[in-house]
Amino acid sequence: MKLVTVVGARPQFVKCAPLSREIRKEHTEILVHTGQHYDPEMSDVFFRDLAIPEPDYHLGVGSGSHGEQTGEILARIEQVLLKEKPDMVIVFGDTNSTLAGALSATKLHIPVAHVEAGLRSFDRSMPEEINRVVTDHVSDLLFCPTRTAVRNLADEGITRGVHLVGDVMVDALEYNRHIAAKKSRILERFGLPPGGYLVVTVHRPANTDNWEHMDAILSALGESGQPVLFPVHPRTKKMLNEFGCWSVLPKNIIVTEPLGYLDMLQAMANARKILTDSGGMQKEAYLLGVPCITLRDTTEWVETVEDGWNVLVGADRGKISEAIVAFSPEKTRSMIYGEVGASGRIAKILGRRSGLSGG
Ligand code: UD1
Repeated sequence: MKLVTVVGARPQFVKCAPLSREIRKEHTEILVHTGQHYDPEMSDVFFRDLAIPEPDYHLGVGSGSHGEQTGEILARIEQVLLKEKPDMVIVFGDTNSTLAGALSATKLHIPVAHVEAGLRSFDRSMPEEINRVVTDHVSDLLFCPTRTAVRNLADEGITRGVHLVGDVMVDALEYNRHIAAKKSRILERFGLPPGGYLVVTVHRPANTDNWEHMDAILSALGESGQPVLFPVHPRTKKMLNEFGCWSVLPKNIIVTEPLGYLDMLQAMANARKILTDSGGMQKEAYLLGVPCITLRDTTEWVETVEDGWNVLVGADRGKISEAIVAFSPEKTRSMIYGEVGASGRIAKILGRRSGLSGG
C-alpha cells in the first residue's frame, strides 16, 4: 500500500515517529512536511531526536493567518497527491496541517486516515477544535486513543471506520524515556534539582495574545518561589516582546528556547508539577505520573482530569497559585491511554484495508 503521511507541527513529529517505524515494515510511506513549524528548534531537532526519516517533500509554507496557512498547505499538498497517487493519506491531531491534508485528499477522492480522531474540547473558539471536527467528518479511518473519543464520534453520527487503538504518544514516550534519561543533560544545564522544580509551557493564542492572561500566569509562577523552567514557543516570544515584559519577569523563571523531545521528556519526568496549555503535555504528564495544572478552562483530554491527575485553572492567578501549592493527586492512575503498541495496531488495520498484509 502506498501511503502519504502529512506532518507540519511539533506534536505531529512526535506522533509520526512510532507510526512511521511500523508502517514502513509493510507499506511504502511518502513523508510530507508542510513547513508549518520551520524554526530548527521546532522542527529539525525533533526529526533528529526521534530518528524520523527525511521528508520526501518539504512544502515550506511557513506562517500566516489561519486562512492563508491552511489554504497554502491545501494547494501544495494537492500537487504532491496528484503526482504520488497514494492509496491513502494519514494525518495526525488537530493542526492546520491536519485539516489541509485531510481536505486535499478527500477532494481528490483519496481515503483519509485520522490518527487521534474523536477528541473534543467542545470549545469552538479554539482553531484546533474546528480542525478536529472537520477532519473527523471527512476521514475514512478514524483511529481513536480513548473510549471517550469513540463516544464523541458516535454522538456526531460517525461510527464507520472507527477503531479504538490506544495512543501513539504512549509508544513515543515508552520508546524514548530511557534514551532521554541517558542522553539528556537538561537538569545539569539549568541546575534543576530532581523533583524540585516546575515546568511551564504556554502557546495557545487565548493565553499568549492576552496580556492579562500572561501577567496572571507569570505572577503566579513568580509567587511560587520554586525554580520554573519555561521553554518559550515562538508565538509566545513574539507576544512577550510586544508586551515589553522581559525585564519584569520573576527571577525564579528560567527562560529557554523550545526544547527538543528528549530534553523535554527528561525535564517533565523529573518535575514536581507541570503547568501547560498544550494538549500533548497534559497527556505526557499523566503518562509520566507528574501532576498537571492546565492553563485552560477546557480540555480534550478529560480522562486526565477525571482520574485526578490534571486540574483546569484557566489563567486565574489565585487558582494557579493554589494548585502549585496544594494540588496533589490521590488515586493511582488507571492507564486510560491503553497499552504500548497503538502504532502497530494502526499499521495492522491499514494492512487489512489494503488486503495485502497483516491479517
Ligand atoms: C500549532 C497548532 C497547535 C499545536 C502547536 C504546537 C494550529 C492551529 N495550531 O500552534 O495545535 O499544539 O502548533 O506547537 O495548527 N512560529 C515561528 N517558528 C516556527 C513556528 C511558528 O516563529 O517554527 C511562529 C509564527 O510567528 C507563527 C506562530 O509562531 O505565526 C504560530 O505558529 P502556528 O503554526 O500558526 O501555530 P502554533 O501556535 O504553533
